[in-house]
Amino acid sequence: MTYDVSSIRRQFPILQKKIGNNPLCYLDSAATSQKPQCVIDAVVDFYMTKNANVNRGVHALSEEATVAHDAARETVRKFIGAKHAYEIIFTKNATEAINLVARSFGDTLKSGDRIALSILEHHSNMVPWMQLADTRGIGLDWLPMTDDGYIDVEATDVILKKGATKLVAISGLSNVLGTLQPIEKIIDIAHKNGALVLIDASQLAAHEVIDVQKLDCDFLAFSAHKTYGPTGIGVLFGKAEILKKIPPFLGGGDMIQTVTTQGFTPAELPRKFEAGTVAAADAAGLAAALNWMEAAGMKAIKQHEASLITHALSSLQKINGLQILGPTDPKKRIGCISFSIEGIHPHDLTDVIGKEGVCLRAGHHCTQPLHALLQIPASTRLSVAAYNTVEDIDWCILSLQKAISLLRK
Ligand SMILES: Cc1ncc(COP(=O)(O)O)c(C=O)c1O
Repeated sequence: MTYDVSSIRRQFPILQKKIGNNPLCYLDSAATSQKPQCVIDAVVDFYMTKNANVNRGVHALSEEATVAHDAARETVRKFIGAKHAYEIIFTKNATEAINLVARSFGDTLKSGDRIALSILEHHSNMVPWMQLADTRGIGLDWLPMTDDGYIDVEATDVILKKGATKLVAISGLSNVLGTLQPIEKIIDIAHKNGALVLIDASQLAAHEVIDVQKLDCDFLAFSAHKTYGPTGIGVLFGKAEILKKIPPFLGGGDMIQTVTTQGFTPAELPRKFEAGTVAAADAAGLAAALNWMEAAGMKAIKQHEASLITHALSSLQKINGLQILGPTDPKKRIGCISFSIEGIHPHDLTDVIGKEGVCLRAGHHCTQPLHALLQIPASTRLSVAAYNTVEDIDWCILSLQKAISLLRK
């Protein structure tokens, strides 16, 4: 069956929007993806027909809300191939999921233990570990990157063989270079050396089929808003045997079994890690989004995006003075292309093209250490999703060329 991008686009109401007289040309899905009507409907339907506090009442509406929330958890379980639904913890976003691991797993570490993370991580997968290092005397090891944008597996092996690493926290797909990281190999090396692995799947989840059992990762985090779902909800997967052993993250209602003046006992999984009122409407939206991706076909979306990336790479490379960050072989890229242009600041560039309706991201993309390594303060990023077209890319390239001539005058 051919990929019908027009029919996909019709499902995203925001794509009808105009910026001035120009159609919206949204090429910033690595920051957040747009939402299909079915996701918007699922959130609205929850509020219109099921709204009640999940787990807290025995009345009919609360039961319906709880059933919907449990169903959403089951949808996430299937989407990432987890063994048990209670291994799926709903968080606010990927950032909170990583913080949960840093605080709760971090609590089980002792001074002298080490965490390894790569130089290309998003700040969300750096700062929580730095905070842990500051407060508990944990050492950090920085896994280096090869020249073509991959975490260096051999260097990782050398670091992990020292035996002090308790956890490796790495991204599955770089949000700047678009490089799919060798996570299977790193998980294998980590486990052989007694370390657990957290995969930051914030970018990966929108583009690749994930099977946490096959991968054998210990933790995996992603945000709904990058997988066509709502903002305000994210996912932490953790292996049951580990989640059972580590202490709760946030305290409050719903995460307890009993409370006395002497203390509390935590609830069973997954509620142990879901303190307070949960984002039930957003969970319904997330489930609709994951179902939408599966109905559109993960493989079909991936192929479509690969053809857009191939086209964008060859068009961008024809622009004078433009330097692509990371590999120029389209087969080595998924989802995004970041670049810099000699003599032009990314903010000026994206400001000019933004007025024409073209949405690209400018800045360090929350990866300052990676940009420092590349010796540039900032870059411009083009990223694609299921709804983008060759026309989007061509319009973007034309706008870039016009903006460059204007800014070079
Ligand atoms: C690789 C990566 N990790 C983590 C995050 C953080 O995601 P969120 O802000 O949704 O928590 C992002 C978001 O851009 C990302 O690209």
